[in-house]
Amino acid sequence: MINIVIFGAPGSGKGTQSELLIQEYGLSHISTGDVLRGQIAQQTELGKIADSYISNGKLIPDELMIDILDKVLDSMQDSKGVIFDGFPRTINQAEALDKLLAKRGASLDIVIGLEVDEDELIKRLINRGKTSGRSDDNLETIQKRLDVYHSQTNPLREHYIKKNIYKAIHGVGDVTKIFGEIKHAIDSL
Ligand code: AP5
Ligand code: MG
Repeated sequence: MINIVIFGAPGSGKGTQSELLIQEYGLSHISTGDVLRGQIAQQTELGKIADSYISNGKLIPDELMIDILDKVLDSMQDSKGVIFDGFPRTINQAEALDKLLAKRGASLDIVIGLEVDEDELIKRLINRGKTSGRSDDNLETIQKRLDVYHSQTNPLREHYIKKNIYKAIHGVGDVTKIFGEIKHAIDSL
């Protein structure tokens, strides 16, 4: 079983590269953002709570997010491995992930960090906002998401560097070329 975190700022290409990873390795994929947007679309209780956090660019509270992840992992028992996209986003969530995996006799193998400069991130998200229908793809909320990323999520980079499982990938340029570097990192494990 291989467990991969795909890590990076909003717009860094986590979703794009996850799609390629799924095709290549046949792994399960958890995008916590997609899970929450699904709940909003279905107008569930969780969706109602998540809606205002997402459209304000804020993180959903840790306890809620960890609980959701635990349930999604239960549905992936027989999987060859999991790609975690958009989780963890806080140190608390990272510690919870270790416990959730340990409980299942597994551990995290690699954190792929997509590193992209801020101007490029904003350009990508503004551009996607023209067609995505995402309530957070507008300049004001993009800026908030980036602030939240810097204050709450970026510290995880150091956390995983210290644990020796962080692999930095330059996330600008051709999508296939970036994927080639990710694949190389995974195949070298
Ligand atoms: P989430 O859905 O995870 O959004 P995000 O992290 O802001 O990232 P995005 O999905 O916008 O970008 P991405 O990195 O997937 O890039 P993509 O491949 O789409 O989270 C949304 C919200 O949900 C959060 O703000 C929070 O409120 C909540 N949430 C989620 N997880 C949570 C958690 N764990 N705890 C608490 N709250 C949570 O690419 C972006 C664009 O760029 C696309 O248009 C793509 O086509 C393009 N692109 C990709 N690669 C390239 C390239 N190489 N060159 C040019 N363009 C490219
Ligand atoms: Mg995404």
